[in-house]
Amino acid sequence: MMGKACIVEVRDLTKKFGRLTALDKLDFDIFDKEIFGLLGPNGAGKSTFIAVLTTLCKPTAGDILVKGLSVTRQAAKIKKSIGFVPQDIALYPMLSGLDNLKFWAGIYGLTGGERKKRINEVLEIVRLEDRAKDRVETYSGGMKRRLNIAVSLLHQPELLIMDEPTVGVDIQSRKYILDAVKDIRDKGSTVVFTSHYIDEMESLCDRIAIINKGKISSIGTVEELLHNYDKNNLEEILLGLFDEGKTEIFH
Ligand SMILES: Nc1ncnc2c1ncn2[C@@H]1O[C@H](COP(=O)(O)OP(=O)(O)O)[C@@H](O)[C@H]1O
Ligand SMILES: [Mg+2]
Repeated sequence: MMGKACIVEVRDLTKKFGRLTALDKLDFDIFDKEIFGLLGPNGAGKSTFIAVLTTLCKPTAGDILVKGLSVTRQAAKIKKSIGFVPQDIALYPMLSGLDNLKFWAGIYGLTGGERKKRINEVLEIVRLEDRAKDRVETYSGGMKRRLNIAVSLLHQPELLIMDEPTVGVDIQSRKYILDAVKDIRDKGSTVVFTSHYIDEMESLCDRIAIINKGKISSIGTVEELLHNYDKNNLEEILLGLFDEGKTEIFH
């Protein structure tokens, strides 16, 4: 049987901050066109992993290959095929959502009919069509996050990376964001996102990696994880894994 195609290959990846080992010899693959979730408590190393994957931060040892390109040696090339949704992006509050998208589309080199078509597509994905002409300063936090996602999708990235995209957003925006993740996968991209919410990971992810203290405790489909640990749900697994450390987790 042929193995699944990989878009991301994490190889013996270590990141240290002084004496603290934030990522400890991670070694795993992310498959093409899957929703891959990195689930773990605060301080587990999720954002550090995302920072290395998006080439914002250099590893101490090891490497990540994105479509065969090294984050340490070929960062500029990698940036073209990834979309990254940070917690905050430069949005102009006085401009409408639409004008913000036009601005970013210009930066990505989109023009004319192509620009219009693409902007309409991304607005639809995040369900902001109706509010596109309103100023961003009138948006809720969740709507701003959705606009961030729309911006990150303009150049049709093959790999979309989001760090805790649903933290601090209202219920409706959370639903729209999770629906958008599915939609983006179904349209043929790979989505990697982090969360400390078990329920959204369980229902949405094709595969999940559980990370704690810089190490991957387990990786697989929800069914595989439940089977491996002989548990009925993810919460039971996580409570078992993190019991000893008394880590405060998972609201
Ligand atoms: N720039 C930094 N300098 C020093 N320590 C850091 C830095 N960034 C993260 N850390 C530490 O690395 C560990 C992992 O942090 P982080 O990746 O932000 O975790 P998570 O996103 O899972 O909450 C934590 O102990 C954190 O304090
Ligand atoms: Mg984080």
